[in-house]
Amino acid sequence: MPSGIKAADVIVFATPLYWEWVSGPMKMFMDRMTPLSMPFIVIRDGRDRHPVREGYGHGKVAVVSTCGYFGIENFDAMIAHYRAVATNLDREFTGALLGPNAQSIQPMMMGMGDQFADIFAAAKTAGRELARDGRMKEATLSIVGRDIMDVETFMNKADKYFAGVLEDLKNKKTL
Ligand SMILES: Cc1cc2nc3c(=O)[nH]c(=O)nc-3n(C[C@H](O)[C@H](O)[C@H](O)COP(=O)(O)O)c2cc1C
Repeated sequence: MPSGIKAADVIVFATPLYWEWVSGPMKMFMDRMTPLSMPFIVIRDGRDRHPVREGYGHGKVAVVSTCGYFGIENFDAMIAHYRAVATNLDREFTGALLGPNAQSIQPMMMGMGDQFADIFAAAKTAGRELARDGRMKEATLSIVGRDIMDVETFMNKADKYFAGVLEDLKNKKTL
């Protein structure tokens, strides 16, 4: 069990969104946190839970994630999940730094200058807010999660990208 968790004011779970949820390594990491629970049952936040091992149930839970789809609502299932995880850990869920449309950002950064500078600056600001105040401001988080294009442009770019990938694969097969 990671010993730093006992002292942590905030546990930050950072994972890409895979299948509406967490990556495989993150799931394995969370499974390894199971010894934080004691083998008894208590009622917490109106739900039956295991008690948390003495000294571990305090502080907060935060989330950092990216996803491929366009809308911020794609994180809804993951956030519901981490709210439940926070209850399991007897900690407060304090918020999530979410960057949708992540696969578009990297190619768009190449040759398009610093049009995302506000996003990266806000991500740093959110980290500072979390460390200083124990929470990230909604205004800061909404800059990180802002649209980087309109949805039609996103769909066109994605379709072109995937068509290119399929074409490359076809060409490789014929070499
Ligand atoms: C196995 C797998 C499942 C994914 N599932 C989702 C998903 O459910 N929703 C979504 O918006 N993006 C999904 N994505 C896209 C990733 O969230 C996105 O590309 C992320 O930025 C990838 O981070 P990584 O490069 O660290 O894997 C998935 C990607 C992979 C490889």
